[in-house]
Order: sequence, then structure tokens, then C-alpha cells
Amino acid sequence: MQTLSSDGYLTDVAYIPGFYPQMAPVALRFVAALNRVVPPAAVGFRYLELGCGLGRSLTTLAAANPGGEFVGVDVNDEHTATAAREIAAGSLANARVVTTVFADLPTDLGRFEFIALHGVFSWVSAEVREQILGVIRRHLAPGGLVLVSYNALPGWAHLQPIRGILRQYAALRQGDSIKRVRDALAYLVFIRDRHAKYFEDNPPAAAYVDKLLKQDARYLAHEYLNEHWTSFYFADVAGMFATADLGFVGSLPLFTNFWDLCVRPEFQELFRSTNNRLVTEAHKDFCANTAFRWDIYTAAPRRMPELVDRLMDADDLHFRIARPGITLPYQANLGVVTSTVQGPLYQTLVGMLADRSLRLSEILADGRVAGTPQADVARAVDVGVAVGLFDVTAATVGGSTFDLNAALQVPSAFNRAILASESLGGRPVALASTVTGTGHTLGDLDAAMLHELIERGRDGLAGRVETRLAGSGRTLQKEGVTVTDSTERTRLVANACDAFLQAGLPQLARLGIVANA
Ligand SMILES: C[S@@+](CC[C@H](N)C(=O)[O-])C[C@H]1O[C@@H](n2cnc3c(N)ncnc32)[C@H](O)[C@@H]1O
Repeated sequence: MQTLSSDGYLTDVAYIPGFYPQMAPVALRFVAALNRVVPPAAVGFRYLELGCGLGRSLTTLAAANPGGEFVGVDVNDEHTATAAREIAAGSLANARVVTTVFADLPTDLGRFEFIALHGVFSWVSAEVREQILGVIRRHLAPGGLVLVSYNALPGWAHLQPIRGILRQYAALRQGDSIKRVRDALAYLVFIRDRHAKYFEDNPPAAAYVDKLLKQDARYLAHEYLNEHWTSFYFADVAGMFATADLGFVGSLPLFTNFWDLCVRPEFQELFRSTNNRLVTEAHKDFCANTAFRWDIYTAAPRRMPELVDRLMDADDLHFRIARPGITLPYQANLGVVTSTVQGPLYQTLVGMLADRSLRLSEILADGRVAGTPQADVARAVDVGVAVGLFDVTAATVGGSTFDLNAALQVPSAFNRAILASESLGGRPVALASTVTGTGHTLGDLDAAMLHELIERGRDGLAGRVETRLAGSGRTLQKEGVTVTDSTERTRLVANACDAFLQAGLPQLARLGIVANA
């Protein structure tokens, strides 16, 4: 049982494991490069996660980046024990966890090129936020990047009472946090369904209750029952980070670095006439009603004012098409804006990046884009990544052959351990790719197919998956309805297996997650 004081942060129930690709070093490095800040090196870096929870992001990223060293910190010893078990199961020599409150972090921990905290900043007291800034001051390496996520305003404004109602009702109930949050959710549904005036006046809040009903109770407890819970304007957080001499670099998801991909055309004049990035971010949040932010900060950045500087200092990022077979026009739904990518330049880039990845310098040197100004080509590549047409990867991809019909293996011990423990666990499964330097998420049914495939081969795959499915108690859904007819169920599993073999498996081979034995 844990004995450290958590300053109001809930400790009686464990959280849920989750992988967040936003935390990948390659994502943070690309945001820096996009915003003309020299990113830390791709290998030999140190990465600190504050409030790592059960550690799934930490372990997946450690498996995907064997050239980096990963340290996770958390007050909850049940969390760190789970993370430590996964580190051992995955034979991850480059990861470890420390059980402590941020205030007592060992001072000899050294400096880190990356410090990340997700799901922490909005859920701790002002005093703990100060401690976090102290940790960053002491432990961020020069030119290092900090990732902080938080509940944002104005998007949270009309939902804020949901947290108040859940917490106040839960306080009246008996039992552990899971029991109390379930009771509180039932109360929320009760008053919503009887048209309590708050819900009548706030239809989005009424709809939000349905989203809560789909969530794991452990998530709800950690999200809503803590003593502290705050949503911030971007300017509040930028102000706090400025006190630690940290300046804003950019944000995730990647498209948020392009204001024209975030707001409708009628607002664009406002942005064109503003050249202060801090003001732009505020405008963006008001125009897009931002409810959650992932922001990246740095101290003492080295700038790359010109494209030529980027080609010198950030050219180890590689680009390639996100999925085989993507065609133009390509449409991306980015929340407020739907972006359509098309035209001859993109057609050329799609052709160049279809089979293998290229660095920006290699793209610019290709005769096929010789007639286009280099800055326009670079922007097209960046926007292509931001809208999901291209991937940015940590290493060269492509060129190797893969025989789908030959024997298969999953080379990473970490991925094998995850497949053995998580397939058909009812939640998505993230596997690590050393090619991309990040994790890739599969549905749990696809993960079960992959697990069966490497354990027992292809013969009778669909039948074996169906047997496992029946034993797991997991249901199959079609158009939102549970399938009960056994013939229909057999047909759905067979179709899912075919789709996995035809499309899912080649993509996993491309990522190096699957290889020929
Ligand atoms: C919502 S969870 C997020 C976990 C993980 N980052 C994720 O996204 O899955 C917040 C984590 O911060 C930890 N935490 C909260 N306050 C802390 C403190 N003062 N010192 C160390 N850990 C803390 C909690 O124990 C919890 O595991």
C-alpha cells in the first residue's frame, strides 16, 4: 500500500494503461523542426515522464527508441510496480521507473532532452504545478523539449460543472473511488434524463454524459474525483512556464501548428494581421473552442531561421506516405476545418514517398520538384504530415522485401509480451516500431489475429480467433448492435481475418513490427 502523500491526487484505485503517440520523441522533434527550433538528437537522448501512471507510453516509446534512455516517475507504487513488470517482460534495458512525488525527485537524476507530462498538470494543486516547474528547471537539458497536456478553455467552460456534480455527489457516497464514481455517474444520468435545467441550458453537456458512459470507471475516477482539477487558458500556462524561462515552441496534434488548418476562412484575416504567436494561440482556442491542449516548451532554444538551417540541423527526420494506396484528392477532417490536399506538387510528393522514406534534403534534391521554390516544397511536406497524408519517421523505411506467405515473427520482445497479455483485452493495443520511433495502435481483434499467427501459423486462423473470442466474453458488434447469430459471427471473423492479412499485416511489416522469421 502506498504511503507517500499525493497532495489530493487519488491513489486508492489504479489508473488504466494507455499509449499516447503525442508523447513520442519523433513527434516532439518534428514540432520543434516545424517551428524552426533545433530539436534534440534522435539518439543518445534522455526522456523523463512525470506522472507516468501504469507506464504504457513510457515502455512503448522505450521499445521504439532503443537509442534513448527513459525514466518514469509516479507517486503511486501500484502504477510503478506495473510499469516495472512490463519493463522486465519486454526486456527493456533502457527504461526504469522511480516511485516518488515530484517534490522529492532525486537531485542526481541528471538532465533530460525530453520531459513529458500527460494527464497531470490540470489535476494537481498549484503547489504541485510549481514543483513540476522546479523539476523542469533543474532537469531539462539545454535545448531540451517539454511536453505538457491540460484541459483548456474555452472548450471546457460549459462542461466544467460535470466535474463539480460528479465530485460533489461522489463525496456523499461510500466505498472506493470506483464505486463512488459509478454512483455519481448514475446520478448525472438521472438528472440529465429528467431535464435538470443545467442540462436543458447546455445541450453539449447533456450529450457529454453519453461519452462518459462509455468510459472505464478507473479513468473516470482519476479524471473527476481528484481534489484538484483546473482548466486553463493557453495564456495562463504560457505565463507559468515563462516564470521558469520556458518559451512556447508549438503544439500537437500537428495540424494545430498551422492556424489556417484550425479555423474557418472567415477568421483568417484576424490571423494574417497578428504576428505574435502567443496571441495567435489564444485566437485559435477561441475560434476552435479548444478543450484540450498538448503544448511544447523549451528553454534557450537554438533557432533555425532559414530552410538551409533546418537542412543542417533537423534533416534526420524521414517522410513517407502514411498508408500504401492513398490517392489524391486526400481529405482530412481536422475538427473545425476539413482540409483537401490535391494538385501537381502533392501528386509528385505522393509518388516520391510511396515506396520509401526520404529526408527533406533528398526530397528537395529530386529533379521532379526542381521547378518549385524549395520553401513551397518544404511547406507541402509539413502540411502533408500535419493532415495525415505523410508520416514522419525516425529511420529510413522501405526497400526491404517481405513475403506474406513465409513464416512470420514479431522481433521485439516488448511487442511479444504486449500481444501475450493484451490481445482481446477489450482495448486497443499499441505495438512499438523502431522504424518510426513510436507506437502503432491496433484493434484488439487484429492484435489477437497477429498473436495467433505468430504462435500457431496461418492454418485455421479464423476458427482459432473465433474460439478465443468466444472464451474471452468479448462481443462482436455490427453497426453498433451485438452479433448473437453464430453464422453471422463466423462470417464477420473470417472477413476480419482476410482484411487483416491483406492490409493490416503488410502495414505492420512496413513498420518493422512483423518480419519474416
Ligand atoms: C491521470 S494519470 C496519467 C498517467 C499517464 N501519464 C497517462 O497518461 O496514462 C496522473 C498520474 O500522475 C501521478 N501523480 C499525481 N500527482 C503526483 C505527484 N505529486 N508526484 C508524482 N506523481 C503524481 C498519479 O499517481 C497518476 O499516475
